[in-house]
Amino acid sequence: MDPKTYVLDHPLIQHKVAILRKQQTGAKEFREIVSEIAMLMCYEATRDLPLQKAQVDTPLGRAQVQVLAGRKLAVVPILRAGLGMVDGILDLIPAAKVGHIGLYRDPETLRPVEYYCKLPADVEQREVLLLDPMLATGGSASAAIGFLKERGAKSIRLLHIIAAPEGVARIRQDHPEVPIYCAALDEGLNEHGYIVPGLGDAGDRIFGTW
Ligand code: PRP
Ligand code: URA
Repeated sequence: MDPKTYVLDHPLIQHKVAILRKQQTGAKEFREIVSEIAMLMCYEATRDLPLQKAQVDTPLGRAQVQVLAGRKLAVVPILRAGLGMVDGILDLIPAAKVGHIGLYRDPETLRPVEYYCKLPADVEQREVLLLDPMLATGGSASAAIGFLKERGAKSIRLLHIIAAPEGVARIRQDHPEVPIYCAALDEGLNEHGYIVPGLGDAGDRIFGTW
């Protein structure tokens, strides 16, 4: 297993992924669970953020504490499906700035087509959490990392709910330093570029557009 790819096997994450995968799960529940999984994944994916010592005064005395040090955070969803992961993460990191990258995958070529990119002006000083529930061929995530790097981002973490080995290989080839956090690494892609067994089309299931 690639040392920069982390499959988050926390029981709560795994249980929630099982509900997402079910064909019968409706859009309301799907949306809620995507957000919950994103929150739990964020908790795991930020384990190594640096801390520094500080002191605070409690009502009873002085306490030695630890507070976050280093870069501030930015959350960047890949539209549209990545939007479903934003609120869960902002619940944990409310001060994070939010950028958006609009990409859709051409159904014939499977290549990503860009339609929007708006990032925090100081993105180069931030630790970026790049969000998309699905890493299939890896074309969308690779292009999004490219946009972030063009705009100066130096530290990027990818968060996907379900990843395919093909997508992981693509990111390793194009952006070997970027860690990938996912809740499941599936078998592979079908002839239409969908992850098998996957969960279907994440954007359609979040927004009810199937
Ligand atoms: C889906 C998904 C990823 C992309 C993954 O988005 O949310 O962005 O496909 O595929 P890839 O790894 O092969 O690039 P889609 O293009 O369906 O757009 P949507 O989110 O607007 O539905
Ligand atoms: N995009 C999705 O939403 N699902 C897949 O399985 C592949 C790409």
